[in-house]
Amino acid sequence: MNTVLVVNAKGGCGKTTLSTNLASYFATNELKTVLVDFDPQQSAMEWLKERNPDHYYEIHGISPFEHRLRFASDVDRVVLDAPARIEGKQLTDLVRRSDIILVPVLPSPIDMRAAAHFIKDLLMTGHIEEKKIVVVANRVRENTLIYQQLNKFLKHLKIPFLASIRDSQNYIHAAEKGLGIFDMPWYQVSHDIEQWRPLIRWINRNLG
Ligand SMILES: Nc1ncnc2c1ncn2[C@@H]1O[C@H](COP(=O)(O)OP(=O)(O)OP(=O)(O)O)[C@@H](O)[C@H]1O
Ligand SMILES: [Mg+2]
Repeated sequence: MNTVLVVNAKGGCGKTTLSTNLASYFATNELKTVLVDFDPQQSAMEWLKERNPDHYYEIHGISPFEHRLRFASDVDRVVLDAPARIEGKQLTDLVRRSDIILVPVLPSPIDMRAAAHFIKDLLMTGHIEEKKIVVVANRVRENTLIYQQLNKFLKHLKIPFLASIRDSQNYIHAAEKGLGIFDMPWYQVSHDIEQWRPLIRWINRNLG
């Protein structure tokens, strides 16, 4: 079993979007996948309720507010969707549980600065190495000045910046139906899936 934590203290940067799409990627690759929703808002659990298990690969959801966290021995992948404003003991607990960490960041100066502080907090928990963390720029409009700034800022950290996920209605449509882009027809989402490729390669390499 391998565990991926999707986390950033900043709200609304795409933690749930990344978590649900990553769960959809694992599930469509026939890996037994569990999505754990640590956010009291329970957006990932709501997403899962919309997913039709008769038509799409099953993803098992767990709310730690309702059930103890126990995983069957045949589970292949666990995705942890963290809440906003996470810090202290809760952050340490989630980091300790995970093998790799994805940090979604929006391409705005405020978010970039906040992300730099947050990554320092992550490293200070002492339970994860730099090389196990990856930054994902989310809702990016390419060729904008802010995109170039983000690129520069992320190069400055010793953390890989692997994917730029564009702002796309595909994520919104997918979210409505309990789907990820990996569940959707290729002709609709090929550009988005292309953007995930470097991240997927990194994840698969680091999860072994
Ligand atoms: N790449 C994207 N393209 C279009 N919309 C997006 C994208 N990423 C996220 N969104 C939208 O932005 C909003 C916030 O995203 P999301 O809920 O994933 O963030 P979050 O970090 O989980 O938020 P919270 O901190 O509240 O848990 C949602 O409405 C989501 O549909
Ligand atoms: Mg969320």
